[in-house]
Amino acid sequence: MCGIVGYIGKGQVSGVILDALSRLEYRGYDSAGIAVLNSRGLEVRRRMGKLKELVKAVDERPLKGTLGLGHTRWATHGEPSEINAHPHTDCHGRIAVVHNGIVENYAPLKERLLKQGHAFRSKTDTEVIAHLVEELAKQHPLEEAFRLALKELRGSYAVCLVSADEPRRIFGARNASPLVVGVGKGEAFFASDVPAILARTRRVVYLNDGEVVTLGPEGPRITTLAGRPVRRKPTTVTWDVASARKGGFPHFMLKEIHEQAGAIEQTLFNRLDPAKGRVIFDRRTRRFLDGLSPQEKLVIISCGTAYHAGLVGQYMLEEMAHMPVDVDLASEFRYRGPMLDRYTTVIAITQSGETADTLAGVRLAKEQGAKVFAICNVMGSSIARAADAVLYTHAGPEIAVASTKAYTCQVTALALLTLYLARKRQRIPTAQWKRLVQGLGDVPRLVDQALAGEPAIKAVAAKYAAARNFYYLGRRYNFPSALEGALKLKEICPLIHAEGYAAGEMKHGPISLIRKGWPIVFIATHSPVYEKVISNIEEVRARHGDCIVIASEGDATIKRHADSLITVPKTEEFFSPIMAAIPLQLFAYYVADANGCDIDQPPNLAKSVTVE
Ligand code: F6R
Repeated sequence: MCGIVGYIGKGQVSGVILDALSRLEYRGYDSAGIAVLNSRGLEVRRRMGKLKELVKAVDERPLKGTLGLGHTRWATHGEPSEINAHPHTDCHGRIAVVHNGIVENYAPLKERLLKQGHAFRSKTDTEVIAHLVEELAKQHPLEEAFRLALKELRGSYAVCLVSADEPRRIFGARNASPLVVGVGKGEAFFASDVPAILARTRRVVYLNDGEVVTLGPEGPRITTLAGRPVRRKPTTVTWDVASARKGGFPHFMLKEIHEQAGAIEQTLFNRLDPAKGRVIFDRRTRRFLDGLSPQEKLVIISCGTAYHAGLVGQYMLEEMAHMPVDVDLASEFRYRGPMLDRYTTVIAITQSGETADTLAGVRLAKEQGAKVFAICNVMGSSIARAADAVLYTHAGPEIAVASTKAYTCQVTALALLTLYLARKRQRIPTAQWKRLVQGLGDVPRLVDQALAGEPAIKAVAAKYAAARNFYYLGRRYNFPSALEGALKLKEICPLIHAEGYAAGEMKHGPISLIRKGWPIVFIATHSPVYEKVISNIEEVRARHGDCIVIASEGDATIKRHADSLITVPKTEEFFSPIMAAIPLQLFAYYVADANGCDIDQPPNLAKSVTVE
């Protein structure tokens, strides 16, 4: 939600900032803006709409300077418009601010500042920060004024500030919204996310909540809100710049779908030894998992696609490790008054590691004495740092708003976790365990095989592209697949309504909607409930629904139950959600493409939901 950039260096800043913003646009694309400091003072350009409008404005009237801020917005307070676009400035245009988050007490602050004579231009919560610092800077040096202003804010913020009165410094701070510092050669950055700065540096300093940074070209000086110095060395991130580029694909989503075999392989790397039949974790993870009590209860919390991965994890962990598992939407969990204790492990699943509801759930769990285990893709993210142990998915940066490779890597990580716990607790026959360990090792190859079905999936998508309502149905391990398939489609193709259901639940209501030609996607891969799914298909066909069936290769009987058939490699049911994910993602992609949808930047969405 909102991407922010700050840059101080030797070159002309506007090119660097616009390039960094282009890599953050997945965080929001309602409007964009830039502020550059030069000998004339602060120059600001803002434009409604996507970043390309801002790029045009800067091309028409170039900006010169070696220090500046940039912002790409996902609106919270104030509609998307030029006037509400960031950066926001104080009364005299000498202070500029970019912000991601929500200043919850902006109304009383604004009222006070209006009484003190400040003139506001926008409807945003952010503008109060610029005026507040302006007011406080009448009595205090700028850094102190910034710190005092932050102390007055309630809510979440990642904020960067420049002032014409301090032309060699940028100030930044975070509280419950992501912000990293990049340290380059004679240049330094603030950014919401690492991909923004990968083209210039891989040396990154992760910030904690309540930290304030004064940034010069030599790097950061970090202090706490109270002014105490903080020492922290940069870490070198392993992601490379190519992973944050489209690499010849028309969309990030398609590129990321195609990266899945490699991403899963990375997630398994050094953790699975199929030859010896072993799952290997690092010492911290082992110590955490080995310390779980015999009566341990697991509670998985997550949002959106990560929630669907959690539902798959519930089937895996309950069936193979025989542990009790609840799965909760993080946004419900945090307000439900869950019963947690020291025999509870909360498993937080998150790609970004910054999702506000999941982070709040993690904090609640810790307050109540539960342990927290994270499955996370972003090193140094808030959730990774708050957790007692982390199992990283090594999917690489996921840029498309629609999550694809992060999902299959989350399911892979859950498979690893399940196999480790099942073995540790001696809940699984050795032969079955060995089969599953070996099967997991085969998953990357089979994912590649599933991807080879792309032309056939594209043809099926073309056949149904004009439909406006879809059901997705599955059972057991593939009930979450049905939810995920429907989410993918409605997310990137806003013309379409798609709903996922447990196939056995159809006759309890939703079947009433089925009409001639209504497309229903069934996941009918090899499983103990295969025949039950076939019955569900026939119930729908009896009402003239049009069945698109995803089935296992080699299934000789399925053809006669399907109006359109897509096959995936046959696996144990345990791995089938990963196999099913591939055609579900490609189907959504090609239906959206045929409808001319903006696939990487669907309306109203943004990646990384860092506000409530
Ligand atoms: C869907 C999607 C979202 C995220 C959700 C959680 O394609 O991307 O539903 O899965 O916002 O995000 P993370 O995993 O970053 O916590």
